[in-house]
Amino acid sequence: MTFTYTIFSNTLVFTIFLIKFVALPIAYSKPTIFLEDFHVTWSDSHIKQLDGGKAIQLLLDQNSGCGFASKNKYLFGRVSMKIKLIPGDSAGTVTAFYMNSDTDQIRDELDFEFLGNRTGQPYSVQTNVYTHGKGDREQRINLWFDPAVDFHTYSILWNHYHVVFYVDEVPIRVYKNNEDKGIPFPKIQPMGVYSTLWEADDWATRGGLEKIDWTKSPFYAYYKDFDIEGCSVPGPGWCAANPSNWWEGAAYQHLDPVAGRQYRWVRLNHMVYDYCTDKQRNPITPPECKAGI
Ligand SMILES: *[C@@H]1O[C@H](CO)[C@@H](O)[C@H](O)[C@H]1NC(C)=O
Repeated sequence: MTFTYTIFSNTLVFTIFLIKFVALPIAYSKPTIFLEDFHVTWSDSHIKQLDGGKAIQLLLDQNSGCGFASKNKYLFGRVSMKIKLIPGDSAGTVTAFYMNSDTDQIRDELDFEFLGNRTGQPYSVQTNVYTHGKGDREQRINLWFDPAVDFHTYSILWNHYHVVFYVDEVPIRVYKNNEDKGIPFPKIQPMGVYSTLWEADDWATRGGLEKIDWTKSPFYAYYKDFDIEGCSVPGPGWCAANPSNWWEGAAYQHLDPVAGRQYRWVRLNHMVYDYCTDKQRNPITPPECKAGI
């Protein structure tokens, strides 16, 4: 068995520890071929495999958007994906990458939604966290680069301590486990990994003021280098509770000082919306906002 640890390859001791105690029992999935791990959930005709199946292209036109989902669900772990978004005039389009328990009224969900914009205007990344069917926790940042020029890595780390959303390893959002303060945290329902590309010009860009320009269609988004490391469900039941899973390790329980500084930098310089401070929607500050990180 060979594993490539991009983050920890420099920590030999830890790597040995992983291989010895952790790697074997966990259901890792790191195939190179997309359709080994994912299946098309919406409009086959709008999804194209590229590079021998290692990358895919999603297409949106006036007939349809499209989507795909992981074959398995996972309970804790880290998922990441490299995505190159629609270039030019992408106003009114939404490209989403998310995890979802798919359990209707009680669903848990962790969302990245990339909201398109007019040419030259910044993309917004909206994140949301649903716990036990309750969402309404939107935050938005404008990216500090043009996400349509190159691939960038978008990841979700989910362990017993927190959920962290990363853009190129920079934490942009933390949802802490504050269950001891009575705040719900997703930890029972496994979640699948999903992506969709669709039209949402009734709300996405400048609150729906900017409409999609179909003369610019078809719109294309690209995905590659997907990486899911987690406890797959179905799978061994003890996996998710195993404290020696790498994503539960000390380095992943809190943001380290460097990550903490990056996180504050994002919030100070790039945050454009936070439900926590939206007094119109939330006259009473939601409890998880007060609990801090
Ligand atoms: C689009 O650009 C406008 C103008 O720069 C900006 O206010 C907005 O946050 C951007 N993003 C979206 C999704 O509207």
